Amino acid sequence: APRRDLAHLNVVITAGPTREAIDPVRYISNHSSGKMGFALADAFAERGAKVTLIAGPVNLPTPRNVTRIDVVSAQQMYQQAMQSAVENHIFIGCAAVADYRLEQIATQKIKKTADNDELTLKLVKNPDIITNVAQLREKRPFVVGFAAETQNVAEYAKDKLQRKNLDMICANDVSDSALGFNSEHNALQLFWQNGAESLPQDTKRNLSAQLVEKIIARYNQSSVD
Ligand code: C5P
Repeated sequence: APRRDLAHLNVVITAGPTREAIDPVRYISNHSSGKMGFALADAFAERGAKVTLIAGPVNLPTPRNVTRIDVVSAQQMYQQAMQSAVENHIFIGCAAVADYRLEQIATQKIKKTADNDELTLKLVKNPDIITNVAQLREKRPFVVGFAAETQNVAEYAKDKLQRKNLDMICANDVSDSALGFNSEHNALQLFWQNGAESLPQDTKRNLSAQLVEKIIARYNQSSVD
């Protein structure tokens, strides 16, 4: 059994997709399974950390000793995340948050009409959750982001690290269907302000245990800086 050496730490993790309603029966979403975020929550809890998991709609059991908050939309995830962020030492944004939502959710099912072959949906931008957490002036947690990329993985990830003012970013290449979305496996490239490290392909469970080590090392470093 792993050491329960992180009992002093509160960690909040967002995971899974968000779902943006179109009407009472339809929605826009993405292929995130939530597996990486759930595996990471489990790994932190096994080390004794107090873990809050803010989960979008996923089909996964709650890891042992983890407090789960279920949400559906990006706006709901944003509200829960901002509340939790100031109560936690570490914020990890694993969720694949929808970048846009419907400007207006139809209150009744949208009907197919005989006279119109086109339907236009107007979308508006969702808040960027992790950017807002990283901008906190008081009680800002240590902020870790994820980046799912299909090309130029390192370049785009480093750009996000700077632009979103993150303390660390974990990038994965989702163009390889054996890794990332819905897979049991992943491989990560980690970047922080003055360094980088690669975690080679492994199960999400094993990667999570290693990632906890790496995050804690950077977190401990940042609190002495
Ligand atoms: O810009 P992109 O979505 O690729 O950045 C990914 C990172 O930003 C992830 O950590 C993700 O959880 C976070 N994010 C967020 N809120 C959004 C969009 C992305 O927290 N609206």
